Amino acid sequence: MSDKTHETGTDQIIKPSAEIFGPGTISMVLNVNGILQSIEMEPRTTLAEALRTSLKLTGTKVACNHGACSACTVWLDDLPVAACGILAIEVVSRKITTIEGLGDADHLHPVQKSFIEHDAIQCGFCTPGMVMSCAALLARNPHLGVEEVETAISGHLCRCGTYPHVVQAMLSLSAEQEADHG
Ligand code: FES
Ligand code: FES
Repeated sequence: MSDKTHETGTDQIIKPSAEIFGPGTISMVLNVNGILQSIEMEPRTTLAEALRTSLKLTGTKVACNHGACSACTVWLDDLPVAACGILAIEVVSRKITTIEGLGDADHLHPVQKSFIEHDAIQCGFCTPGMVMSCAALLARNPHLGVEEVETAISGHLCRCGTYPHVVQAMLSLSAEQEADHG
């Protein structure tokens, strides 16, 4: 990418030659839960909004919409991120995983099962985001202690106060998996 520079008297005007998108809708393709999905949205659309409105993946919740509560957590290339703080257009070439891609009612992810077994859910609004962060933690570190779990969920706000149950759910799951694998 090069910039075009024009001299006008003593002023120097820099005109970037980068492609300009919008403000109207544009086409983009997102790789969500292993499926390439074509959507038409304004370039200013956040990933959270694109998932919920265009793709009807409403398991991803939006609470603060300002990157402060982590309710909207999804995975970007297997790492948890706040989907309200990213534009959809920024992640067209990335792998996106939502709570719908982690498990469903008939095939719950082990973290989802453990949350249910340990009563780690009240209203459930923070739960999909919390599960996404906990599942990512377990994938990268199967041997969990209290500190690891607390750090992983430290950015998640739960108004119902489920934190001790979430920690118990994850410690118990980690212990179970360690026992299973000897
Ligand atoms: S809704 Fe995205 S961080 Fe709160
Ligand atoms: S379960 Fe209600 S906000 Fe966490």
